[in-house]
Amino acid sequence: MITVDDIHLHFGGIRAVDGASFTIERGSITGLIGPNGAGKTTLFNVIAGHYRPTSGQVLLDGENITGLPPHELFDRGLLRTFQIAHEFSSLTVRDNLMMVPAGQLGENLLQTWVYPSKVRAEEERIRDKAEEVIEFLEIGHVADELAGNLSGGQKKLLELGRTMMVDAKIVFLDEVGAGVNRTLLKTITGSIRRLRDERGYTFCVIEHDMDMIRDLCDPVIVMAEGKVLCEGTADEVMSNEQVIEAYLGTGLKNKPAAEASA
Ligand SMILES: Nc1ncnc2c1ncn2[C@@H]1O[C@H](COP(=O)(O)OP(=O)(O)O)[C@@H](O)[C@H]1O
Ligand SMILES: [Mg+2]
Repeated sequence: MITVDDIHLHFGGIRAVDGASFTIERGSITGLIGPNGAGKTTLFNVIAGHYRPTSGQVLLDGENITGLPPHELFDRGLLRTFQIAHEFSSLTVRDNLMMVPAGQLGENLLQTWVYPSKVRAEEERIRDKAEEVIEFLEIGHVADELAGNLSGGQKKLLELGRTMMVDAKIVFLDEVGAGVNRTLLKTITGSIRRLRDERGYTFCVIEHDMDMIRDLCDPVIVMAEGKVLCEGTADEVMSNEQVIEAYLGTGLKNKPAAEASA
């Protein structure tokens, strides 16, 4: 579905992404791991249209999408969430969800004036959709809460919910499990799996939590120093000598689980 072909992105002298290549199969939940500074987030930013790469290509279903702006990728069903959740803190959870759909009729003042009934119908459709997302993610108890009052984990869940308001095909999740308690993490991983199984989503997941990666992702791609180090099942990559080497000296928190508990 996605082909990342020899992407380079240099910030001055820093080779944040330094010739990364891999593919993402439709219907997979592909993991992307690697020590801090490996270039994972930067690569997401390239794929999702926030940065133009120094060189290389990104293909979506064989079509070159390199350098397309985020809103055009959004229209094609390619979405990403952010490592730091970026909710509208003074709006309720429900209103945060309703903000998402692009090209809402009601945003056009002339339309509101000429076709008020059409606008109402559209708003109702979006409200229904938000309700469906709230139900799917089981966040009814916080639907009317201001998003700013949510816990870190609930904000991550809201981020995931925002990707459900449009017809997403592939979603890039940047550390959706970071700082999330175990119970909520189960809800998040369960929702990701159901979105894949029931809605045909494809996911690419950056994550430090190796238990979550093992539970959720196949295959797992490992990046280090801007390049792809290896790819395989979670167990394969976590027992790979080069991978263990790459994680050494980056702090216990980021080591593969097998290492950390050793
Ligand atoms: N906007 C930027 N300007 C300069 N350097 C950057 C920028 N963004 C990231 N970097 C650098 O690029 C490297 C990769 O960072 P990043 O993609 O955030 O890694 P990861 O997400 O794998 O931890 C790091 O050395 C980081 O300091
Ligand atoms: Mg990152």
